[in-house]
Amino acid sequence: MELKKFLEDKGTESALIEVFKAIEDASKVVQSEVSRAGLGADIYGAKGSENIQGEEQQKLDVYADECFIKEFRACGQLAGLASEEQDDALQFDESLNGEYVIMIDPLDGSSNIDVNVAIGTIFAVYKRVSEKGSGLEEGDFLQAGKHQIAAGYVNYSVSTQLVFSTGSGTHIFTLDPNSGEYRLINENVKFPADGKVYSINEVNLDDFDDNLKRYAQICKDKRKADGKRMYTGRYIGSLVADFHRNILKGGIYVYPATVDSPKGKLRLLYECNPMSFLAVNAGGKGSDGTQDILEIEPTELHQRCPFYVGSPVMMDEALS
Ligand code: AHG
Ligand code: MN
Ligand code: MN
Repeated sequence: MELKKFLEDKGTESALIEVFKAIEDASKVVQSEVSRAGLGADIYGAKGSENIQGEEQQKLDVYADECFIKEFRACGQLAGLASEEQDDALQFDESLNGEYVIMIDPLDGSSNIDVNVAIGTIFAVYKRVSEKGSGLEEGDFLQAGKHQIAAGYVNYSVSTQLVFSTGSGTHIFTLDPNSGEYRLINENVKFPADGKVYSINEVNLDDFDDNLKRYAQICKDKRKADGKRMYTGRYIGSLVADFHRNILKGGIYVYPATVDSPKGKLRLLYECNPMSFLAVNAGGKGSDGTQDILEIEPTELHQRCPFYVGSPVMMDEALS
């Protein structure tokens, strides 16, 4: 089944369907550019600039950001956007009657671009709290994750997949290269209750607090009845790809506070919130180690937070 029909059958508001159409169209352009990345230097490598978080921007970070912004502006239903690659939120003056705002990580896992490893786009959609037709306010963007009305990601990998939720289940669509359309392949995907993968950048182990050190050791020590190891470690370094494997196979992803990133590395608004929304809608959980991610009241656009997300049994053990 194609995306538009699926959304219509679910009773999705027509304005939100148009937002999905913009995501669909932009992701196809980015996918096509991503697939060219192996061909030469014009799309590889650093742009020579930094984003507001002091991170070096890759050419594809900037290209993807421009693609999504262009489609979102044209869509007419979005009054504005916040992006990892934009210092401040953007207001789309031409669509102030739009009732939604969107947050994006246009290219997630950008250190993997040059080595042909999976990368992604992450998005989160909210209803604006300010009045339609008026200018946007800070509060339109600084909403707790529980207010998301849709969230998802595109995984540009062996195949390109769109994974999303509008609040009732998490669904997977695959881009069919023959027809150029996304097709439903997995409705209501569920995190296996107790996974076998733990995904964590272990170079930071010495920085972890004692509880997390103990949890990492538990993951290494745990054995099944036959004596074989219960868990295995997998870490790609693209949140989208690590999350995607875990939602299918079962597992936990952790990016805690470290010496280099004392508040955690991942960004609440366009990484942790949308991934937690997808996890919860698939029977999983998302936490900053002490509280539910979706309950956090944001105070800054590019706010970072420690992040735990994954299968419910593994999450319960990690958090206890
Ligand atoms: P981005 O490329 O959007 O800046 O995100 C990178 C993030 C995330 O995708 C990944 O899981 C994490 O950074 C990897 O960080 P480390 O290299 O520190 O493990
Ligand atoms: Mn990212
Ligand atoms: Mn990014």
